[in-house]
Amino acid sequence: MDWKIKKAQKGLKGELRVPPDKSISHRAVMFSSIARGKCRIDNFLFGEDCMRTYEAFLAMGVSITRKHNAVVVKGDGLKGLKAPAGALYMGNSGTSMRIMSGILAGQDFATELTGDESLSKRPMGRIVEPLRSMGANIETAGDGRPPIKIAPAGGPLKAVTYNTPVASAQVKSCVLSAGLYADGTTALTEPFQSRNHTEKMLEYFSAEIEREGLTTRVTGGKELVPKDLSVPGDVSSAAFFIVGALLVEGSNLVLRGVGLNPTRTGLISVLKRMGAKIDILDLRGESEPSGDLRALYSPLEGTIVKPSEIPLLIDEIPVLIIAAVTASSPTEIQGISELRVKESDRVRSMTENLSKLGVEMMEKGDSLIIYGGKKTFTSAVLDSFGDHRIAMSMAVASLISDDGCTIRDTDCVNTSYPDFPGHLAKVS
Ligand code: S3P
Repeated sequence: MDWKIKKAQKGLKGELRVPPDKSISHRAVMFSSIARGKCRIDNFLFGEDCMRTYEAFLAMGVSITRKHNAVVVKGDGLKGLKAPAGALYMGNSGTSMRIMSGILAGQDFATELTGDESLSKRPMGRIVEPLRSMGANIETAGDGRPPIKIAPAGGPLKAVTYNTPVASAQVKSCVLSAGLYADGTTALTEPFQSRNHTEKMLEYFSAEIEREGLTTRVTGGKELVPKDLSVPGDVSSAAFFIVGALLVEGSNLVLRGVGLNPTRTGLISVLKRMGAKIDILDLRGESEPSGDLRALYSPLEGTIVKPSEIPLLIDEIPVLIIAAVTASSPTEIQGISELRVKESDRVRSMTENLSKLGVEMMEKGDSLIIYGGKKTFTSAVLDSFGDHRIAMSMAVASLISDDGCTIRDTDCVNTSYPDFPGHLAKVS
């Protein structure tokens, strides 16, 4: 499907409840499926990515039922999964494939994980290497790409101390998940803090897990005790509306129930540094904090984003680039290599789309320089590159284009935000 997004005639106004958090929804199904007992997950994200995780655990014999916007999972413990009848299809979802590999490495049956065209190009060596060091029996296709084949390790996995070279929550979560099946305490150290939903959920489910600086330790062999939970709104989905409101004159937009875990709110910190008027109206929550946000139209200035901030806003960089283009001075985003291995090569996707909008962006080593100073964009036909976050970032840019834009191939948005076009129409 293509979208035709009109130029906004007035500010973004009113209220929205953005969809449930994708990262937390995945983890809730994964860890309740290997916990012992019943877990109700309220406000689960029924987007395509999380459904791949949901269906994979159904295929491994877990009782999972949908009740309106909730799911109820009855897990049978760490070793309660059963061999699936065929390969587990992970669709577009890197999170499903990478974290589940850690869980599946500890099982007594073989599995195969496959993905769509985009996922089949994404690097899996980053999880294969630590899993092998734990004794996992795991193979990929050539060049460390999917499909992944996992066979039983023939005994418990070995607890290891692993320093991951990339600050990736998927790698961290994969190793910690395998650590649940290891014969001692597995320690993982990351170069920078990445999102910590796995650590928080494992702690909430009474795992033996502790955090010290950038190191997380988990002890294997202890059953998880499930507890009901409610998934907050996804700050990565809210990001498109936050930036939209900042860019369009006259905006005053309230976003309700947004997840505000500090390992996810890097975009808000960076935008505030650029002069954004974003207020947190209240903050609540148990394991995962959430709150309501208000974003107002705000003239922005440029900033420098440091490599240590990247994991805290990794998925928001495309829309941050759109904001930076409108700033009064240049922005430098440092440490962008991970952008190249997302659902698309986001450096390339953004560069090509920006050039159609009449904007240039410069790559300098491992940094991106965005010059700023643009108040409106040339109307154009833009491409999603099959990447949900590129499609939605381009929709935000279209709001301040001369006469609207067309965005092609937007079905990918169903992975994380099926209601996005309706929500945008409601507030613009
Ligand atoms: C995710 C981690 C990030 C992020 C992805 C979701 C997660 O990926 O980009 O959308 O849920 O753990 P990396 O771990 O590859 O940085």
